Amino acid sequence: MIGKISAVVFGLAVLSASAAEVSLEKDLMPLFQRSCGTCHAPDSGIRGAIKNGAYFNEKKDLLGKVGGAVVAGNPEKSGLVKVLAQEVTFGKRALVMPPPKSGVPAFSKEEIEKIKAWINAGAKDN
Ligand code: HEC
Repeated sequence: MIGKISAVVFGLAVLSASAAEVSLEKDLMPLFQRSCGTCHAPDSGIRGAIKNGAYFNEKKDLLGKVGGAVVAGNPEKSGLVKVLAQEVTFGKRALVMPPPKSGVPAFSKEEIEKIKAWINAGAKDN
């Protein structure tokens, strides 16, 4: 019995620790630079994202500068998560980013979970 309880407590501790530990700088920025920044950069000629020009190669682009892209504490309302989950349409087609034919690696499920954990933890500049 005690073993079970401590397993549960330990499990919760691990979960909350991993949620708190996602660092924008160390864990997420390299992924954005890999999967988005090559095209969504100020000098790429493509207008950034979510209507008013966010790029994805600097931290400030992910810190709530762009309305709706990242809604702190609420991944479901964050446009960025919707784009990664392919729930956004662009004209008549789904907006799939990075574009499948570009050969740029997409985010894996685990990587999307990291972004959600970071947003859930308040989308901090960490
Ligand atoms: C190979 C180049 C390329 C990569 C890599 C890429 N995009 Fe895009 N993105 C585009 C193009 C081109 C458009 C314009 C719309 C279209 O043609 O689908 C666009 C449009 C968008 C839009 C809509 C823009 C608007 O003004 O509403 C969003 C949001 C977006 N991209 C997010 C991302 C995210 C997030 C990533 C990384 C996971 C990413 N993109 C990676 C080329 C790219």
